[in-house]
Amino acid sequence: FTSASSDVHAFLGCLSATIPCNLVKTPGTNSYSELLMSSVQNLRAVLPGTTRPVVIVAATEPAHVQATVVCGRRHSVRIRTRSGGHDYEGLSYASLDPHEHFAVLDLAKLRAINIDAPRSEAWVESGATIGELYYAAATANQTFGFPAGYCLTVGVGGHLSGGGFGALSRKYGLSADNVLDAVIVDAEGRLLNRTTMGNDLFWAIRGGGGESFGVVLSWKVRLVPVPETVTVFSIRRSRNQSAVDLISKWQLVAPVLPRDIYLHVFVQNQQADFIALFLGRCGRLIDTMRRYFPELGMTQQDCQEMSWMKSTVFFAFNTANLPVEVLLNRTNADYFLKVKSDHVQEPLPRHAWESIWSKWFEKPEAALVMLDPYGGVMGRISPLATPFPHRNYMYQLQLFSSWSENGTAALEKRLSWVRGVYKDLTPYVSKNPRAVYVNYRDLDLGTNVLEGNVTSYEKARVWGEKYFKGNFKRLAAVKSKVDPKDFFRNEQSISPLPAAK
Ligand code: FDA
Repeated sequence: FTSASSDVHAFLGCLSATIPCNLVKTPGTNSYSELLMSSVQNLRAVLPGTTRPVVIVAATEPAHVQATVVCGRRHSVRIRTRSGGHDYEGLSYASLDPHEHFAVLDLAKLRAINIDAPRSEAWVESGATIGELYYAAATANQTFGFPAGYCLTVGVGGHLSGGGFGALSRKYGLSADNVLDAVIVDAEGRLLNRTTMGNDLFWAIRGGGGESFGVVLSWKVRLVPVPETVTVFSIRRSRNQSAVDLISKWQLVAPVLPRDIYLHVFVQNQQADFIALFLGRCGRLIDTMRRYFPELGMTQQDCQEMSWMKSTVFFAFNTANLPVEVLLNRTNADYFLKVKSDHVQEPLPRHAWESIWSKWFEKPEAALVMLDPYGGVMGRISPLATPFPHRNYMYQLQLFSSWSENGTAALEKRLSWVRGVYKDLTPYVSKNPRAVYVNYRDLDLGTNVLEGNVTSYEKARVWGEKYFKGNFKRLAAVKSKVDPKDFFRNEQSISPLPAAK
């Protein structure tokens, strides 16, 4: 809807019948800016020129979410749902369309977590963070874990609906693979669970990105078993200590290691950090590393044994010397971000690493490059089981640029670094199409175009098949069924499937 068709005044009047006015913030009212910024993770998305919401609804009850959807449809004000605000392009709180009138439905206060210890399950509301989920699970029982990302402030709502990858994924798959049920408010404002939403919608929200189909209020998840003691290490090797040789070898080793070991690499500042989680004690880890990867030179001194909960602190902060209560912190970012992701099927030759390193990694604006191994359970789940299709790659590659200098010069430099490396990687990475992870949102892949008042399927396929391959068509079919009028729409929402397809 544009400023011409939407009636913001009537929308606000409609909201006031159900939602207390202190939960509805319009620009200029007390604490609008504070609420808007409260979970923003990318300052690039709130630069002058990006369109901000005409209202933010800080929902505290499901009825507030239902009312916002019903009033939005009635008065032509579109909704962007925000759980943790970590979308890399800020799509949960900002629009690229200068004329769009939209509301942000902020779920940060809908964050209850209920652990059912006898069943090893939990109900978790979308506004909780994954750090809060880790804390609640492991506090209920030290042997409960959950497979999800490293960044503890990521919101459950966006993370689970887009996939959710982390250090337990080789053992247990994505977060979305461990969802057992969900409660969603659909485009009619109805509350649906797994049974009433049906198999297709339940399939779509486990990796297809939640924003296209409704507002997911809560998720029932399977908690996975972890040992009381796990082991981590972080081994740093500089370029002149043969980091390039080690990365070349890592490509062959990390995806085929036993699934109890997760070993990823961070490359930055002329060095590579090899960081591992092992679901067991140090002794067995040393034996396995000597067998598979003796060149890394891992020894007993590298081992740090700890609880699984503490290991999530270690992965987030690269130190375990922080109390586990940091899992409960919520922060907003004070940096700008640009991220691109890819997948690798064949190891990059050593000369490719050498030349990319010399050309790019020595520049002051170089980003953090993260290499995350697949294999294990990731490769055993069908690419059709959920919308996430990239199951059979060796590893995922992420170019993660974050910077704090404001201004166009810094922005341009960072963007051109990330885009330049992405281009130079072309011969070595996924092809036809490039395989990209939807939780690492990237608007460079393309943005939606309208045909009439509905998102064009043909145009959406351009970016959509990079995220979802053949699953994109099924996602579009689900969209036609549950939201044919395309109410839940943003720059990269799933289009409805035209009748003829
Ligand atoms: P946010 O609230 O911004 O939502 C993201 C998208 O989902 C938006 O389009 C939004 O509308 C939609 N959405 C959110 N809640 C919804 C709901 N309840 N119902 C329907 N739609 C909803 N990923 C990963 O797999 N592993 C990792 O280790 C990391 N690490 C990481 C670090 C940092 C610093 C960032 C910024 C991001 C990551 N991510 C990640 C990516 C992260 O998983 C991804 O951005 C998630 O979508 C974020 O979910 P939030 O709820 O925080 O985002």
